[in-house]
Amino acid sequence: MIIAIDGPAASGKGTLSRKLAEHFALPHLDTGLTFRAVAHALLTAAKPLDDEDLAEAAAQALDLAALDRSVLSAHAIGEAASKVAVMPRVRQALLEAQRAFANRPGGAILDGRDIGTVVCPDADVKLFVTASAEIRARRRTDEILARGQAADYAQILEDVKKRDERDQTRAVAPLIPAEDAHLLDTTKLDIEGAFQQAVRIVEETQEK
Ligand code: C5P
Repeated sequence: MIIAIDGPAASGKGTLSRKLAEHFALPHLDTGLTFRAVAHALLTAAKPLDDEDLAEAAAQALDLAALDRSVLSAHAIGEAASKVAVMPRVRQALLEAQRAFANRPGGAILDGRDIGTVVCPDADVKLFVTASAEIRARRRTDEILARGQAADYAQILEDVKKRDERDQTRAVAPLIPAEDAHLLDTTKLDIEGAFQQAVRIVEETQEK
């Protein structure tokens, strides 16, 4: 079984995917981390984020087993990731690694922006997780504050909107729901509520 989960920044799709992976005992790949790792490689080397040759090389050298969420989850790396994600050769290199992960025997859960449309168009179940920009910015702000770091809600809301715009309008693999995706709006749901709805959708698909 392949489960594809897409949605905008801070929609809750990451937490939801991890809970589903545990529940259905499936390996999980957060594809956002792959773009973040490429951005991190460029930032660490003090290279511009639009250097496609270097970004492609970093994408080709990526080891999925070595992705470190604690380093890559920084807000600034997410912003940088959405800049490297517009480059077609970077997407192509990462697509190969993402597809290889998806096609392992026994299935997998992948989450990102283009899983249901590009990476796994034949996925058994597709979810598109959304929430208003305001609630996503609020959740991201609270997450950062909970780590004891400083966070400015107004700035984060502006970043969320900018990132949505960049992800939705790019030429290659833009963020849009697949035609056969189930929409899951988490604006008024907590994580447990979203999880229960998602489990129901997956189980209904399995019964068909
Ligand atoms: O999901 P996350 O915030 O970690 O993703 C960081 C950035 O990586 C996104 O804003 C998006 O530009 C890019 N991305 C993508 N395709 C994916 C996953 C992430 O373009 N499948």
